[in-house]
Amino acid sequence: MILRGVDLHIDLLANQSMASDHERLLALTAFDDTKAGVKGLVDAGVTAVPSIFHHPPECLPAADAELHHLTIPVIDLASDSRVALVAQVKAAAQAVGFFQVVNHDVPDDLLAEMLASVRRFHESPVETKRAYYSRDHRRRVQFNSNFYLFQSPAASWRDTMFLQMPLPASEEIPEACRAVAPEYARQVQRVGRALFELLSEALGLDPSYLEEETMCLDRVNIGGHYYPACPEPHLTLGTSRHSDASLLTVLLQDTVGGLQVLVDDDKWVDVPAVPGALVVNVGDYLQLMSNNRFKSVEHRVVANSVDSRVSVACFIAPNPSSARVLAPIVTGDGAVARYRSTTVDDMFRYYRNRTKALNGTSALQHFTI
Ligand code: OGA
Ligand code: NI
Repeated sequence: MILRGVDLHIDLLANQSMASDHERLLALTAFDDTKAGVKGLVDAGVTAVPSIFHHPPECLPAADAELHHLTIPVIDLASDSRVALVAQVKAAAQAVGFFQVVNHDVPDDLLAEMLASVRRFHESPVETKRAYYSRDHRRRVQFNSNFYLFQSPAASWRDTMFLQMPLPASEEIPEACRAVAPEYARQVQRVGRALFELLSEALGLDPSYLEEETMCLDRVNIGGHYYPACPEPHLTLGTSRHSDASLLTVLLQDTVGGLQVLVDDDKWVDVPAVPGALVVNVGDYLQLMSNNRFKSVEHRVVANSVDSRVSVACFIAPNPSSARVLAPIVTGDGAVARYRSTTVDDMFRYYRNRTKALNGTSALQHFTI
């Protein structure tokens, strides 16, 4: 069977009754072959969410979900008191694993321009984007829909452009982002350093500890997400439940909202859009290094039928080709390591090869003692 053209592709995708793995694979392949992502489906006029994007009901937001009143802390990085600031960061990293930072000194117009440039990329002609369509992790610029399209139980209503910064030559950066991504990456690196210092102090260590131990601030992976408005948001998710394979993730979101954090194993809390704020979360590698003191918490993005949403996730993580070993920091009387020390390479490979990557058990369990 030759899978060609958007019409055939939508016919296949629209077949809600498809049952077999083989049919699902065909539909996934047909979708992937368009290299146009979810935005391509929306532009072609789909009015129903194709079955490859259907998530099981237990993974979807319940209409009568119990509201959790916890608020994600907003931390003022310009606080006068270092002691108070370290205490706030420590409390947030321990309790929720998520916080927002304000007064981080990244200019508002740079934040706005970064969001606009990601939108520009995703809203550019499909021929422009197709040139970047790839899941080859060695490529420093990639555009795709659902990095784990063929491994995940259900696809998500999202497209992403990845940039591994810094790129050796700025001409490699898609034109839509060329003028802004390098400066944005530099600013995130600076904020990342400030956060590493605070987190190191919160662990009772020298402020330079996390940066020196991980040597990962020279490299920022940017994921520029685009969540098209969804005709049937109750059937799918923008991003399914996951934790991040990073030390820290610094996320910039627009005003649409949809990001939620899991607390107490079964309650979802909104991370509201706070103007000018950056959302920070602890990733799995930092949970390991902090020996479980800091929590890498699961989160997801719900779909909505009204607006398309843009977010820019910067993953701070060591280069997988480095020979670094990530080791739990064990301090205090009677403390024991909860994880085995692991090379970045091993960790990266484990995460990459894990299938059915999302929903459920933490990949970190593989590294527990
Ligand atoms: C991620 C992520 C959330 C968002 O990229 O890992 O969780 O709001 N993104 O896009
Ligand atoms: Ni995430």
